[in-house]
Amino acid sequence: MTDAPRPKIVSGAKPESGHYEEFLAHAAHFLYRAYQECGELAEFDLYGQKHILIASPDAQEAVYRAPDAVLSASAPYQYMVPVFGEGIQYGAPLEIERQQVKIFSNALRPAKMKGYAQVIAQEVEEFIADWGDEGEKDFHDTYKDLVLRTSTHCLMGGDFRRRLTDEFGALFHDLEESISPEAVIDAHSEEEAFKRRDRARAKLQTLLMKAVEERRAGARPEIPDMLETFLEARYADGTPLADELIPGMIVWIMFGGFHTSSNTAAWASVELARHPEYQKEVIAEVDRIYRKGEDLSLASLREMPVLEGFVSETLRLHPPLCTLMRQVMQPFAYKGYDFPIGTNIVISPYVSHRIPEVFPDPERFDPHRPEPDHVFALIPFGGGKRKCVGNSFAFLQVKSILTALLSRYELSLVDPPETYREVMPSLILRPSAPCKLRYTRREKA
Ligand code: HEM
Repeated sequence: MTDAPRPKIVSGAKPESGHYEEFLAHAAHFLYRAYQECGELAEFDLYGQKHILIASPDAQEAVYRAPDAVLSASAPYQYMVPVFGEGIQYGAPLEIERQQVKIFSNALRPAKMKGYAQVIAQEVEEFIADWGDEGEKDFHDTYKDLVLRTSTHCLMGGDFRRRLTDEFGALFHDLEESISPEAVIDAHSEEEAFKRRDRARAKLQTLLMKAVEERRAGARPEIPDMLETFLEARYADGTPLADELIPGMIVWIMFGGFHTSSNTAAWASVELARHPEYQKEVIAEVDRIYRKGEDLSLASLREMPVLEGFVSETLRLHPPLCTLMRQVMQPFAYKGYDFPIGTNIVISPYVSHRIPEVFPDPERFDPHRPEPDHVFALIPFGGGKRKCVGNSFAFLQVKSILTALLSRYELSLVDPPETYREVMPSLILRPSAPCKLRYTRREKA
């Protein structure tokens, strides 16, 4: 026998459903328990589907470096196909999907970011202009509203954004609700949430197709937006991206960035309010950069190490996506252990960010924590060739929001600190409701 690590099996499986009920109740908490009980490799079962949680920087590196033909992202994420549509992302062949991601990267190039920074700054300033001297708000809902405005404006232009109604946000809400553990098992079952998802997706197709047709008829955005990139996009062989697929691209990019960014801004605000001493440090940096007359769009593009460190620690403790999956398609081994073909490998940033050998005293929020040496230890945006393409855009949004807010207000908790809990009504981690914070106009320095 070799010393190869073999996965231990997580306790508590039920005869038919395995660990499904516990996974359904709170996927991140279940995975953390699995790691605490079993260590680096933990095997669990969801209705007969074998899953192995891997939790160590080395194991994460091995998975992220494996080719798609060996570890597929598409196979375990098929539940996303009804959300984005056939022909998009995991509903498209691998070589097309990779080119679609490249089109996204073009839409998020640094040259375009300057325009987005202007749009975001304008939206944020307008949004908080009438907040008065003090008040209380649910910061989760507030940021959802704000990020919907900033994202749609950058994506679809000012005209679309000005016509934005509550319906658009509600349709995305219906899509988000369908990303659940139920979907991992069968995304086409008779569940009411899946029927709502399909209705919402059909409605979005009509709504967004109208915007595409307006552009084709000659309408132009004030500042180059992401839709422009999609309308001009060509695959490597010169074929244009079909117009009917553009709504799917928009839904995909919105989906990738909407709840993830708004949840991050909400958690960052909760942590600012929980830690007045760190809030002072961030405010001092904001004042140094922003209040010397610099405009918000430029300020938010600048390096802000204190604020960035704060957001990074927020993403360590509260990574919005915490069940990343790959399916074993061809023999794959790690430290001598052969993963059976068909197994789903799970990487959880929530778990890997709590490994005490890498992040000592992991539950403590510490924005001064040194960056880990291992490149695959801190992975809120994933890693390898499938790492998030929107991370700079996400940072731009969150930095703009917090810079504008902290230049005017201080944040404090309304409820006891421990009542701001992490919940998972879908597969996305978010703060519990209500996520109420108080904002108070700062004394002029
Ligand atoms: C705080 C905000 C965000 C977080 C935490 C986040 C997290 C992630 C993670 C973990 C992945 C990898 C998934 C995997 O390996 O299975 C990913 C991929 C992706 N994200 Fe983000 N994301 C954020 C914001 C955004 C934004 C703003 C956009 C778009 C503007 C975006 C677009 C994408 C896309 C297109 C992919 C797929 C990349 C590929 O398959 O190569 N994300 N994101």
